[in-house]
Amino acid sequence: MDFLQKKIINHGTVINDHVLKVDTFLNHGIDPELMKEIGKEFASRYQHEKVTKILTLESSGIAPSLMTALALDCELVFARKRKSLTMVDSLLTSSVHSYTKNQTNDISVSKDLLNSQDRILIIDDFLANGQAAMGLIDLVQQAGAEVAGIGIVIEKSFQPGRKLLEEKGFRIDSLARISSLSNGKVHFLQEEPIVQK
Ligand code: G4P
Repeated sequence: MDFLQKKIINHGTVINDHVLKVDTFLNHGIDPELMKEIGKEFASRYQHEKVTKILTLESSGIAPSLMTALALDCELVFARKRKSLTMVDSLLTSSVHSYTKNQTNDISVSKDLLNSQDRILIIDDFLANGQAAMGLIDLVQQAGAEVAGIGIVIEKSFQPGRKLLEEKGFRIDSLARISSLSNGKVHFLQEEPIVQK
């Protein structure tokens, strides 16, 4: 995922030792070409995994998930943080605590959208503490469905999310793995630091 690393270096901003701003292409503005490449990459990694649906969390998980669903020719469902007016069916709900934002949200999916026959690829934009992924896994398991794996666009490998998920036996595919954001620079795992332009 050379192009993703380049995008992070050229267009990301290190806010502090823990937070990377990627508002121009992932969290606010969205780069369609980048999303297309991300979709192709996740799809190539999961093409033989019999994925029936992708599950993500609104809002920033939706764009990479949509492109992956197109490439895998499967369905896409996003969990909501706030219930919509029309969410009157019975719901699967899980509680997700964000350490980054210091708040807890209930996330929900209609019971009609996930079923026990599903094999689900979970996708999200960031992996930090792993709480969003754990909430999505909980929804999949409540539906009696199976988790094929967890696809992450940007993993902050210096935070405990990956370890937590690996310890539970889940497959994780992160397209960019950041080992540190110290001194205002993005360091990728097992790579030399690249100086930001
Ligand atoms: P966790 O799910 O792995 O435990 O992560 P955490 O609670 O720490 O993160 C909560 C929110 O903050 C998520 O967005 C996540 O994507 C985002 N986040 C975490 N670390 C970073 C970072 O370094 N940079 C950026 N840009 N975002 C980060 P969210 O609340 O679900 O927002 P959105 O999907 O509506 O955009």
